[in-house]
Amino acid sequence: MKISVIGTGYVGLVSGTCFAETGNKVICVDIDDNKIQKLRSGDIPIYEPQLDVLFERNVRQGRLQFTNSLKEAVDQTDLIFLALPTPPGEDGSADLSYVLNVAKDLGEIISDYKVIVDKSTVPVGTAEKVTAAIQKNAKVNFDVVSNPEFLREGFAVEDFLKPDRVVIGTSSERAKKIMEELYRPFVRQGNPIIFMDEKSAELTKYAANSFLATKISFMNEIANICELLEADVDKVRIGIGSDTRIGKRFLFPGIGYGGSCFPKDVQALIRSSKKVGYDFKILNSVEEVNTSQKTIIVPKIKNYFGNNLSGKKIAVWGLAFKPDTDDIREAPSRYIIDELLECGAKISAFDPEAMDNIKAIYLDKINFGTNNYEVLEDADALLIATEWSVFRNPDFTRVSQLMKEKVIFDGRNLYDLQKMTSLGYRYYSIGRKDV
Ligand SMILES: NC(=O)c1ccc[n+]([C@@H]2O[C@H](COP(=O)([O-])OP(=O)(O)OC[C@H]3O[C@@H](n4cnc5c(N)ncnc54)[C@H](O)[C@@H]3O)[C@@H](O)[C@H]2O)c1
Repeated sequence: MKISVIGTGYVGLVSGTCFAETGNKVICVDIDDNKIQKLRSGDIPIYEPQLDVLFERNVRQGRLQFTNSLKEAVDQTDLIFLALPTPPGEDGSADLSYVLNVAKDLGEIISDYKVIVDKSTVPVGTAEKVTAAIQKNAKVNFDVVSNPEFLREGFAVEDFLKPDRVVIGTSSERAKKIMEELYRPFVRQGNPIIFMDEKSAELTKYAANSFLATKISFMNEIANICELLEADVDKVRIGIGSDTRIGKRFLFPGIGYGGSCFPKDVQALIRSSKKVGYDFKILNSVEEVNTSQKTIIVPKIKNYFGNNLSGKKIAVWGLAFKPDTDDIREAPSRYIIDELLECGAKISAFDPEAMDNIKAIYLDKINFGTNNYEVLEDADALLIATEWSVFRNPDFTRVSQLMKEKVIFDGRNLYDLQKMTSLGYRYYSIGRKDV
């Protein structure tokens, strides 16, 4: 098939590359000329495990191309994917301007039947709006399909190549056949392609992300109550996760969820509900809990230093909103760093992939190290904000030698309490007793 992907970010680049990997000819479009230049010269602008191998192979074999011209891409393709941003607008509802502006342009460009597929996360009713925007200028037939994306950053390639399910919202038999053919190679193990109407498909994505965010906020509240009741959240987590109705995954407490999806999608579903007169009470709380959870470790740090952080050197391990990505959108690390800087602390940070993105925002307000040990030199405390694997088993002898004080504030519960006690650390984590 001949496919164009409009918007070459985390979702667009991974989708385009994986579609090319199954033999399709793909052209990715972006308005960011710099990004297109980079991609054309073989440089991948994001960090995503496994993407480089597929990218290189498909570019080399001529199945994956890049352009900044929407018309050039659309003229050569039958299937057009929209992987455009849908950031929160002023009131928190999804800003559809990127999607609708491109839809308007598509109406003028298309000269024969096309299937236009919305892969961006969009509120219920967007397929109708996209159809109307294209229809305004279009002189030919087309179908608009809703195909929300469920990939996780850090596992995006794996998730795309072997999805748990593919959701396709369409009322067109013609589009349905094309979508089924496109996705068949990705579900050979028997995972379902689930067809439904456009509105249900659009809501499925928000429901999935909101449910997962709810699970995280619920566990964070259990952690907070564990601290007050002197219970251990790790034990509680294992105790409840063994119940198959609950499941083991997504039960890890910490300093809240971040990223470009959960925060904005929870907000957008709250706003969409409000617009139709429904008060989504649970989600209001999920959001509220997450906002306070992001900085829940700051009072512990302040308390330890007698409310005076002025001149204290805090080493930070982990800046990305989660491991295995360079994405720092809504990362809890940023909220914590902002508060610590405001209190006069000095920050010295390390992240395996996200430092360039953080540097672009903080400039010289914080220092960076080339590895996780370098930032510990003369540090008054270590804060762990992201659970990268490389932080799980550090050389504690080296850590002790480098730090001024043996104090760790762990927002991701990486270490065993007994071990930290025997190593002589003051260790503060989430939902467990301080040692
Ligand atoms: N990132 C994720 O993990 C993820 C997962 C599932 C769904 N989604 C959804 O997918 C959508 C895209 O997310 P993302 O993380 O890939 O965003 P992103 O910001 O990484 O990428 C969007 C890209 O679109 C480009 N763009 C903007 N306007 C354009 C235009 N007019 N023409 C061409 N390109 C244009 C931007 O330059 C950018 O490169 C969002 O709706 C998001 O909610 C994201």
